[in-house]
Amino acid sequence: MFEAKTHPVPTEFAANAHINNEQYLAMYQASVATPDIFWAEQAQQFLSWQQPWTSVCEFDFKKGEASWFAGGKLNVSANCIDRHLATRGEQTAIIWEGDDPEDNINISYNELHEQVCKLANVLKSRGVKKGDRVCIYMPMIIEAAYAMLACTRIGAVHSVVFGGFSPEALKDRILDSDCQVVLTADEGVRGGKTIPLKNNVDSALAHCPNVHSNIVVARTGGEISWDESHDLWYHELMEQASADCEPEWMDSEDPLFILYTSGSTGKPKGVLHSTGGYLLQAAMTHKYAFDYHDGDVFWCTADVGWVTGHSYTLYGPLANGGITLMFEGVPNYPDASRFWQVCDKHQVNIFYTAPTALRALMGAGDEFVRSSSRQSLKVLGTVGEPINPEAWEWYYNIVGEGRCPIVDTWWQTETGAHMLTPLPGATALKPGSATRPFFGVQPVLLDSEGKEIEGAGEGNLAIKHSWPSQIRSVYGDHQRMIDTYFSTYPGYYFTGDGARRDQDGYYWITGRVDDVLNVSGHRMGTAEIESALVLHDAVAEAAVVGYPHDIKGQGIYAYVTLMNGQQPSDALKQEFIDLCVKEIGPIAKPDLIQWAPGLPKTRSGKIMRRILRKLAANEVDSLGDTSTLADPSVVDELMANRLNQ
Ligand code: WT7
Repeated sequence: MFEAKTHPVPTEFAANAHINNEQYLAMYQASVATPDIFWAEQAQQFLSWQQPWTSVCEFDFKKGEASWFAGGKLNVSANCIDRHLATRGEQTAIIWEGDDPEDNINISYNELHEQVCKLANVLKSRGVKKGDRVCIYMPMIIEAAYAMLACTRIGAVHSVVFGGFSPEALKDRILDSDCQVVLTADEGVRGGKTIPLKNNVDSALAHCPNVHSNIVVARTGGEISWDESHDLWYHELMEQASADCEPEWMDSEDPLFILYTSGSTGKPKGVLHSTGGYLLQAAMTHKYAFDYHDGDVFWCTADVGWVTGHSYTLYGPLANGGITLMFEGVPNYPDASRFWQVCDKHQVNIFYTAPTALRALMGAGDEFVRSSSRQSLKVLGTVGEPINPEAWEWYYNIVGEGRCPIVDTWWQTETGAHMLTPLPGATALKPGSATRPFFGVQPVLLDSEGKEIEGAGEGNLAIKHSWPSQIRSVYGDHQRMIDTYFSTYPGYYFTGDGARRDQDGYYWITGRVDDVLNVSGHRMGTAEIESALVLHDAVAEAAVVGYPHDIKGQGIYAYVTLMNGQQPSDALKQEFIDLCVKEIGPIAKPDLIQWAPGLPKTRSGKIMRRILRKLAANEVDSLGDTSTLADPSVVDELMANRLNQ
């Protein structure tokens, strides 16, 4: 078996860290032996409760039920803002760095409090009440942070939709959770280009009759159309709003937010998170996985449209009274040194990004890194997809100059916060491994019969005890949550990932075992892309698989069968690509489209994706048994014309 080099914890780092290896082992042991005692202590230490809970944890995975700190009352915005005011009101809460390197602002906890309270009152004035859903379709501007926190202040449930999603995708999400209020901006700015967010909202709202208020931030002043019946300027509403707004005290299990994510079947699911457990695990992992100390500048590059942006750009750092950096731009604008320039400019101590960004920057050349100092950096992190050891070593040696531990954090939209992760002062690192479970997390590897694999081995990754920030439901469809996560292996939460465990108990994620793609750290269902393709009149059938891609991790490979009488052409391919962009967004563009006169099917008509994946990956020596195919000659044709040779 491949044995990676191990990087021990630097002695000095361990001495100053919150948690060293002995402490990790003892705390982990306590967290699984007596979870109720362990988590009660953490919930006291990390959060402020308006009323104590009556029960720490109750769960029944067979019914897809979990409850943490039931009976307890708290408010997320009060935990992220108000309770810090007495000691650090003047301290920076959020450093905002614009797309333009000249553009930045610092927002103190006092200012954050004022803006969030005002916006909370604005939402109230638009009729938003506890439990109502609010859609946030915004660029990475400071108002996006205000919007999320303002929702939590009044107990509204936010549903942030990534600004890269198309009007069609936005419409589906607004309708699914019946949002009646939307917050957006006239335009977004990324890499020197504008993104027509308000226009997109206009297109979506044509099909969303229940939306009565669309609150628009003037980001660029660009030309937009205006509908007096529901469009409202953010700055006009804020001018009149009072800065007094008492937090709404929420039950720990009240819903906090919905975030849509893709699965192997059907439309994206609205993953529902609840209040107390989510905030606790976000805060605790932020402190321990990044070894966050008071005053550290923490930068998570994720957009708030993804769960990483929720837990680590916003909620975790603010719950800890930290300083968090929010970046509007992209890694390669004005040039490929931008990340490192920003690290120097704001003296960033902890930097957290995705492997796909690192691979792209690695390709741009080391001189872009070397032009910066990066002396402020202490800890580096990655998230979103497996990191190849080559990119890991580059991050470690070139970016971190061998000084900074790398935390490779494995988790999911559904898990809410880190599940497998090194703790920088405790865990010896192996490049490519997310190492060991966080406190309270009980991972298991299951074989195809659902039996737990002991010791070193490889299998399907599942979790056998509830954790505070776990998914509570799929919005509007609890049965779908049971079917998706709790039915494959009764009694376990099934992650959809495969993993290997080595002799030291370290986990190595091998990737999804279902029909979910991970393209540049963005998750997409193959079924979603196929549904978009078959909308085209010329398409009889489409099958989409992933294939290894140097920068994106996975690329999108589409096999398309045309209707009788249709002729293949580049113009048609472009129409297919446009259709995916329209239905989903630019992230769903197929990289390769192969004409498929036929698809490999079993005699019962099921597409054999295993074979399509092998062909797309150019692994043609290991196609496996094709004798059960209805027409094995289909494979020869596809093989001869494959596009990734
Ligand atoms: C899927 C979850 C977690 C926030 C960002 C993505 C993959 C995530 C890692 C990692 C290997 C990883 C998994 C997982 N993934 N982190 N450190 N190593 N794979 O959230 O969109 O819900 O995607 O991303 O396949 O299931 P998401």
